[in-house]
Amino acid sequence: MTTTVKTTPIAGQKPGTSGLRKKTPVFMARHYLENFVQSVFDVVGCAGKTFVLGGDGRYFNDRAAQVILRMAAANGAARVIVGQGAFLSTPAASHLIRLNKTDGGIIMSASHNPGGPTEDFGVKFNMPNGGPAPEAVTEAIYRRTTEITEYHMVEAQDLDLARIGRHDLAGMVVDVVDPVADYAALMETLFDFPAIRSMFAGGFRMRMDSMCAITGPYAVEILENRLGAAQGTVVNAAPLPDFGGMHPDPNPTWAKALMDEMFGQDAPDFGAASDGDGDRNMVVGRGIYVSPSDSLAVLAANAHLAPGYKAGLKGIARSMPTSAAADRVAAALGIGAYETPTGWKFFGNLLDAGRATLCGEESFGTGSDHVREKDGLWAILLWLNILAVRKQSVAQILQEHWAKFGRNYYSRHDFEAIPTDKADAMMAALREKLASLPGTALEGLVVEAADDFAYTDPVDGSVSLKQGVRVLFAGGSRAVFRLSGTGTEGATLRLYLERYVPGPDGLAEDPQAALAPIIRAAHAIAGIETHTGRTAPDVVT
Ligand code: G6P
Ligand code: ZN
Repeated sequence: MTTTVKTTPIAGQKPGTSGLRKKTPVFMARHYLENFVQSVFDVVGCAGKTFVLGGDGRYFNDRAAQVILRMAAANGAARVIVGQGAFLSTPAASHLIRLNKTDGGIIMSASHNPGGPTEDFGVKFNMPNGGPAPEAVTEAIYRRTTEITEYHMVEAQDLDLARIGRHDLAGMVVDVVDPVADYAALMETLFDFPAIRSMFAGGFRMRMDSMCAITGPYAVEILENRLGAAQGTVVNAAPLPDFGGMHPDPNPTWAKALMDEMFGQDAPDFGAASDGDGDRNMVVGRGIYVSPSDSLAVLAANAHLAPGYKAGLKGIARSMPTSAAADRVAAALGIGAYETPTGWKFFGNLLDAGRATLCGEESFGTGSDHVREKDGLWAILLWLNILAVRKQSVAQILQEHWAKFGRNYYSRHDFEAIPTDKADAMMAALREKLASLPGTALEGLVVEAADDFAYTDPVDGSVSLKQGVRVLFAGGSRAVFRLSGTGTEGATLRLYLERYVPGPDGLAEDPQAALAPIIRAAHAIAGIETHTGRTAPDVVT
């Protein structure tokens, strides 16, 4: 029944922070998925264990799930909990891992990257706390892939993953569960569903763009069925293997249809979108875009209005390039503010140690200690809860927030597909001149400090160096330079721009206009055009 297949190591099976991501045909090639999954089991152990399994429904999701199940059975797993149809959003998988006190889970996704036969696929392992495996574990998995000689697989028919209930696979229990039910139940414990329901009943209109990705079924069940939003509120609601050809990344560029609707005639009251695997979110009010940095700050300032957070927050954590708007809220609340390097994994320790309750990143990630991943629908529901209690528009809530805390004008400019050597040379030259920058005056700004961000984890003392170059100007403005860690073609330069205006004047400017001097100063300091030939960004968020 169990066969052991001889194999040889395949180069390049090195997981990044969000697992192993490759082009789908690479994953579908002989032994590729099998080698990686066997390496995971060899490192984390499999015999007698219980795992969660699911993915975002992209091309190859269904086939990969059958292979992983057969391998789990052959390696002696006791039980696997699988989302129906092998579907699970990343936050829902994180919740199931925690709820069932399992030994971890395997999530099949390449997040916001396009899917399809020639696009991206991915596999990642999450730990028993529901969060992505830390580097020590992913490194061990990678080492194992370099020495693997065989893998184990039971010979069996495909399981009918469409049928909810208990199945048997060569003695291993497979529980196929509704992917939405437990997650929706968790949301009901955190948010004031009756208040949101009466808001919808009173005529509140929303548009949710699930971008043909995994949050469709979740959003239809929660927003339309449980909260009474009008049928059809959720668009692109059916998860498709190729995401309908969309690029399922919720930002103003890729969720353009939503932006157009929210800025058009007869726009709904509230708009939202989420990514391929459901952990990112973008929120938009009628005629007003909410930057992820502002979203974190507003959610933090108002979280007590939701039942799950009425006792208050323990602390707020944000990644370094995210604006300092949330820090001002933390200061006003008298709670801790944490500044971490880019990457959700850095929040895990703060959440586990009970230091932070809310976390957020400028890259459209927001979440809390309810799971150990960022959570797109969670953020959207917290916004709805706040709107329902405050009975104000998104624009009014933002304006009152800025009037109270001041406004951190914010934007990110991305320069994509730069030849890697040119991008590296630019960053190296910038790092070289950091010490000489303080005191420099340009574009009406004076450089106060300049450094390369380093982080010491307050929980385990681990140190992360070279996490992005910061140029801080007098008065609280700054420019941050970082090369993307998730790109696939060449290098992507991310230029993060921020300017603080305390108010009461100057709170209603266009962010690009408000940031113009900082943009010019940043280009001059880093010599972006000289090094890369680029004068304008490809994506602005
Ligand atoms: C992934 C991680 C996020 C992180 C982002 C940064 O989405 O889950 O936590 O903020 O990558 O991507 P970048 O391309 O800027 O390295
Ligand atoms: Zn994602």
